[in-house]
Amino acid sequence: MSSFSISPVFSLREQVVLFEGDCLELLSAIPDGSMQLVVTSPPYNLGKSYERKNSLDKYLQWQDRVIGECIRALHPEGSICWQVGNYVHEGAIVPLDIALYPSFSNRGLKLRNRIVWHFEHGLHCSRRLSGRHETILWFTKTDQYLFDLDPIRVPQKYPEKKYFKGPKAGQYSCNPLGKNPGDVWVIPNVKNNHVEKTIHPCQFPIELVERLVLSMTRKGDWILDPFAGVGSALIAGLKHNRRAAGSELSSEYCAIAQSRIAQSTTGLLKSRPMGRPVYDPQNANRSLTTRLFDETTEKPF
Ligand SMILES: C[S@@+](CC[C@H](N)C(=O)[O-])C[C@H]1O[C@@H](n2cnc3c(N)ncnc32)[C@H](O)[C@@H]1O
Repeated sequence: MSSFSISPVFSLREQVVLFEGDCLELLSAIPDGSMQLVVTSPPYNLGKSYERKNSLDKYLQWQDRVIGECIRALHPEGSICWQVGNYVHEGAIVPLDIALYPSFSNRGLKLRNRIVWHFEHGLHCSRRLSGRHETILWFTKTDQYLFDLDPIRVPQKYPEKKYFKGPKAGQYSCNPLGKNPGDVWVIPNVKNNHVEKTIHPCQFPIELVERLVLSMTRKGDWILDPFAGVGSALIAGLKHNRRAAGSELSSEYCAIAQSRIAQSTTGLLKSRPMGRPVYDPQNANRSLTTRLFDETTEKPF
């Protein structure tokens, strides 16, 4: 990746834009139909350090405005990937993908996949099962959308399998480039011992966005993250020679995003490589993972 300057204002001539301010202001500067991929994780209205908690209705109205603007800016062959988890109120969860679906479908977008992102780390709940997945809603604007499976294929389980009869007998029966990764993605979330961890409480793992970039965009295309945080989606795009634009309200996160982008262009940013298997304590012979169960008390020892 070559190094370049980060522009604070949007222009289609730039390679990377990081706007410090409200996403609606950045969006107002982006021409219709110019973004190939909008990929983001918005605030979930949970009252985190970077957001003010609103009523669910007000939050959904605000998201609807942002989504409407993102759709306007989206290229006819483009994709929108909205990555969300749950809004929680008085112990009840509201899956935000369900609540936000109408903002896309009412504008004529088609849902192509509801990708389940499974990870292992997070809060330990005592009154419900601990949440260990979030989702990515992948919508397209038209049926002529760009999608290339080959760059994101994963290794086959049985690569040596061959047809045993018929005209193709003896030939490999699976795609030699690998198989479709499916719609359940097991990718570690960015918690304390993750190599990409910054002070941001809810970062994207770069590898999660790389899959979307590689399958939904071409070199030179624009990627937009309206809630850019510390710049993970922008970095995923730049890593693969795409153009990237983002907005972020917090000056502290913007400064970290700028330094991470600069580091990534010089090859100094550490990131978890795509395709690395997740840590498996049993393979690592960690005996404490064995759960001993007392059948009398019906509880673990
Ligand atoms: C869930 S985080 C996204 C983190 C990001 N995916 C990353 O990898 O760093 C949401 C971000 O949106 C920012 N934000 C909240 N409201 C915003 C707004 N109106 N315009 C731009 N950014 C906003 C927050 O400061 C926060 O960093």
